[in-house]
Amino acid sequence: MKAKGTQRLDKVLSSLGIATRSELKKMAKQGRILVNGEIVKDTSFHLNPEQDHIHVDGQAVTYKKYIYLMLNKPPGVLSATEDLRDRTVIDLLTEQEKHFAPFPVGRLDKDTEGLLLLTNDGKLAHQLLSPRKHVDKTYFAKLDGVVGEEAIFSFQQGIQLDDGYVTMPAVLKLIGDAIQSNEIEITIQEGKYHQVKRMFEAIGRKVIYLQRIRMGNLDLDRTLPLGSYRTLTETELVQLQSIHKSKRAIKLLALDVDGTLLRDDHSLSEVNIASVQKVAASGIEVVLCTGRGAPSALPVFQQMGLSGTIISHNGAATVNGDALEVQQQIEIETPIYKELLVMLRNSQLFFDVSTATSLFVENLIPEAKKMYDLYEVEPEFISDFESLDGGVVKVTVYEPDPVRLDDFQQTLSKIMPAGITMVRSGIYFIDFMVPSVNKGVALAHYAKSRGYIPEQVVAIGNYNNDIEMLHYAGIGIAVSNSTQEVLEVADFVVASNNDDGVSDAIASYVLES
Ligand code: URA
Repeated sequence: MKAKGTQRLDKVLSSLGIATRSELKKMAKQGRILVNGEIVKDTSFHLNPEQDHIHVDGQAVTYKKYIYLMLNKPPGVLSATEDLRDRTVIDLLTEQEKHFAPFPVGRLDKDTEGLLLLTNDGKLAHQLLSPRKHVDKTYFAKLDGVVGEEAIFSFQQGIQLDDGYVTMPAVLKLIGDAIQSNEIEITIQEGKYHQVKRMFEAIGRKVIYLQRIRMGNLDLDRTLPLGSYRTLTETELVQLQSIHKSKRAIKLLALDVDGTLLRDDHSLSEVNIASVQKVAASGIEVVLCTGRGAPSALPVFQQMGLSGTIISHNGAATVNGDALEVQQQIEIETPIYKELLVMLRNSQLFFDVSTATSLFVENLIPEAKKMYDLYEVEPEFISDFESLDGGVVKVTVYEPDPVRLDDFQQTLSKIMPAGITMVRSGIYFIDFMVPSVNKGVALAHYAKSRGYIPEQVVAIGNYNNDIEMLHYAGIGIAVSNSTQEVLEVADFVVASNNDDGVSDAIASYVLES
């Protein structure tokens, strides 16, 4: 009878590459195979390969289920398991290793060299590759020219690629003399197609040589010649397997405000208050993230008896404390802002203009007054928006009729001036901001300034302007009233909505982690 954890003798031995099943059958008949000291003549015999001792022709067989190989990938081979035309990295292995059916963990381009892990351990591969895990990959590259030191800052912000995708923050190190050297080291957290090459293309440079030198905490063994490989050492394997555990302790909780933390009527449930207070008391920092201005999120902190950082205006500003001290802001350039004002005036919809800490209106319609009262915001009156010269981080159209807003969004999407982007921020608002600003980029920037890595950050949200934030955080959670797109990107979805969903998420994934 088949007991738990057992496998057929011929399966175990053939998976180790000792012989084929038919060869094993003959060998067994000849009495050459022993299990726990007894000759076994029937290869359908079941044994537990982790516990039982096998000998073949007098030699002890060491059972292993997985192999872990470090390859120094040469140029000209594909990081795939098979290909009709080209040689693959698997073709570099001997039959002994091929038996384990290893596959490359992630892809290096055909011309890229360096560290490639080959394994048949799907779980480890998933942990290293999952976009959610943000495992660092470091490359050495030679470029077709120099990049200035300002590139370091741009890479830190995330780079917009040719398809519009904005990468996670990357660390760029210029090697040697920054003025003359075309050699760099770059650490990225994702593995988008041709990512490193495309990031440099975005700043006008071409990568002429690329080599991966590190993945997670695994360094390329420089003594391995190109095309050679070796088994990972026990220490390397343990370190690689523990990569997430060591990083896990949560340090920062980022909470979307409207639709996530607050009920639809903009009130805050007792349950959510108590949970967020518990989080703060446990030493985890709480950051509020909002599409609206910081003054609208400040009363939320105050109701919870807390104070902290607010990522406001969909990431265009970050402010600290009750005095709303500006930590970061990304202004819309004045000429672009003025061009935008002309377009919005033509639309005849209501709009307001934000700086990092204030909100300006030229006039007030009754619906907008109600909206401001709900958000506990007192706008400042201004005779004309043009007199605000600088400091504008966001312009917002507010329209209580979502269908009218949909039409406007469609019309406007065709004629947006360069240097400005339109973000639907909840059903009643459209925000105009600098492109590639979003809550995720701002959260990444803030977390970095506090010395936290993504794995130490949990983000909870519900609307599409929370997607990048959920994507950045090691754990991204959606409450149940989230849009389909948010539900799809979240690591976890809690069963409750913005009445007490935050409390559920905290209980399951923050305080219990
Ligand atoms: N980025 C690239 O552009 N190519 C690679 O092979 C790896 C990362």
